[in-house]
Amino acid sequence: MKTILDKFRMDGQAAVVTGGAGLLGKEFSRTLAQAGAGVVVADLNAEAAEAVAEEIRKDGFKAIGVGVNVTDPASVQQMVVSTIKEYGRLDALVCSAAMDPKFDPEHAGQNRNTFEDYPVESFRQALDVNLTGLFLCAQAAVIPMLKQDHGSIINICSTYGLAGPDQRIYIKPGQPQQYKPVYYSVTKSGVLGLTRYLATYYAGKNIRANALTPGGIFNNHDDLFVQNYSARTVLGRMARKDEMNGAVLFLASDASSYMTGSNLVVDGGWTAW
Ligand SMILES: NC(=O)c1ccc[n+]([C@@H]2O[C@H](COP(=O)([O-])OP(=O)(O)OC[C@H]3O[C@@H](n4cnc5c(N)ncnc54)[C@H](O)[C@@H]3O)[C@@H](O)[C@H]2O)c1
Repeated sequence: MKTILDKFRMDGQAAVVTGGAGLLGKEFSRTLAQAGAGVVVADLNAEAAEAVAEEIRKDGFKAIGVGVNVTDPASVQQMVVSTIKEYGRLDALVCSAAMDPKFDPEHAGQNRNTFEDYPVESFRQALDVNLTGLFLCAQAAVIPMLKQDHGSIINICSTYGLAGPDQRIYIKPGQPQQYKPVYYSVTKSGVLGLTRYLATYYAGKNIRANALTPGGIFNNHDDLFVQNYSARTVLGRMARKDEMNGAVLFLASDASSYMTGSNLVVDGGWTAW
C-alpha cells in the first residue's frame, strides 16, 4: 500500500542545488539525496561543492559536485549537461545561490551598506547573481524538464522579499550601524515575480515553480543579535539550519503536486505580525 510518505520519495529522479556548498545549500543537497534523488551540488566554489557531494556519497546516497557561476550562461548550460550525463534527467532545480550579507562571526568586518553611498556596481552585481542567475538556471533546466514532462523549480527567497528589513536588529552599542543592503530586498522581491512568471508560463506542461522563504538561520550569531532577531519572531528564536529541509523536499517532490506559483514561508512567524 502506498502511503503519503511515498509522495516525498524522489527515487530515480535528479535534483540540482545551486549554492549547494552554502549553509542551506548543503542541507538541501543532503535532504534531496536522502529522499532518493541523484543530486548535483553546484557552487561557485567547485572544491566545496565536491566536498559536500563526497560527504553525501559516504552516507550511501547519490551526489556529484560541479563548479558553476550562475551569472554565466555557458557555465549554467554545462551544469545541466553534467546533470544529464550523470543521471539522464533533471526533475528538481533548487536555486539557493545568492549574495546574502550575513551578520554572523564568519562575515564580520563587512561594509556598513549605507543606502546614500551604496555603490551601483555592487547593486548591479547582486542583480546579476540573485536574479539573472535564477533566470539562467531556470532557462537551462526547463529543457530536460519539458522533454520528461516533469519538473519542479524552487527559488529561495527571504522574509526581506516580503517585508522591509528591520534595520534596528543590526545595531550594536558603540559601533557604527550596519545595514542589510538595498539589493537584498530588491532581488528577493524579484524572486517572487520570476517564480510566478515561470509557473504561469509553463501552465499545462507539468513544470511547477514555487518559492521558499526562510527566516534567519542561526549560525553562531552573537547573543545581542539573537535576542533582537528572536524578539521579532512569533516562535521567539532563529531557525536551525535543518528546519527548511521539510519544506524543500515538499516542494521538490510530488508531495506538492498541486502547488505552483506560490511561496512557502518558513519564518517562525516573522512576517505574521
Ligand atoms: N542563511 C539565512 O539566514 C537565510 C535566510 C533567508 C534566506 N536565505 C537565502 O537562502 C539561500 C541560501 O543561503 P545560505 O545561508 O546557504 O547562503 P550562503 O552564503 O551560505 O551560500 C550561498 C552559496 O552560493 C554560492 N554562490 C554565490 N555566488 C554564486 C554564483 N555566482 N554562482 C554559483 N554559486 C554562487 C556561494 O559560493 C555559497 O556557497 C540564499 O538565497 C539566501 O539569500 C538565507
